[in-house]
Amino acid sequence: MNLGPVAHDDRGGTWPQVHVVATADAVAEHAARLIARWIADSRRDHGVVHVALAGGRTPGATYRRLAALVDDWSDVHLWLGDERLVPAGDPLANIHAIRRDLVLPAAIPADQVHPVVTGLSADAAAADYERQIRAALPAPPGRATPRFSLVLLGLGEDGHVASLFPGGAGLATDRVCVGVTDAPKPPARRISLSLGAINAAARRLVIATGAAKTEPLARALSGAEPASPAALLAPVDTVVIVDADAARLLRRVPRPHAPH
Ligand code: 6PG
Repeated sequence: MNLGPVAHDDRGGTWPQVHVVATADAVAEHAARLIARWIADSRRDHGVVHVALAGGRTPGATYRRLAALVDDWSDVHLWLGDERLVPAGDPLANIHAIRRDLVLPAAIPADQVHPVVTGLSADAAAADYERQIRAALPAPPGRATPRFSLVLLGLGEDGHVASLFPGGAGLATDRVCVGVTDAPKPPARRISLSLGAINAAARRLVIATGAAKTEPLARALSGAEPASPAALLAPVDTVVIVDADAARLLRRVPRPHAPH
């Protein structure tokens, strides 16, 4: 995400679109409504929807609202943008919160939810997940990278997104998934969608709340910090939803986005 210079598209839009709302709850509500709309649009346009979900603590409130908002999950497939390689059933696994906050309350069928096989080495787990993704999401004609309908991302305090940490291998590869064995955010062993796979998606949505994200968000949006993985996200078709605390250092605080 590089707001300087802002990217412009042929629709007269400027990207990334940064929506500032007052509170973390408002971020969750706004994000859930946008995701629900995008799911409906994508199913209408493409017949099937593939969404890569974020881990960490921030998205839980969005998932709970999404479960209540969407009443038709047909043809929607849920993937992990990244996963911690912990034993199956470990509450540290990102799939644990996704199942608790979204899959179970929304009664999404198991064959539409694609967890990572975590009992492998990082490279083997990444290769296995890439094989699953490539089998389910054909790359668009002329493209080598499968195209998710939407990738939802949190923002780490060092600017990481998914499990793409500063200087990580996943920032410069044509693989779809990469294994990580030295994540500075525990647990160390993970897999992640690569930057290329995230930027090949039709849309990206980044959500961040709280004062701890003030600095990383400002760095990501300033364009002056290529070391911040979030700054490397494709700006076009990327929406960022943040609360006032996270937005405090933004150069020009965007017009507060009136929630739907
Ligand atoms: C993970 C996440 C990670 C997360 C950020 C923000 O597996 O830890 O995928 O990328 O989104 O670290 O985490 P919080 O939302 O908990 O601040």
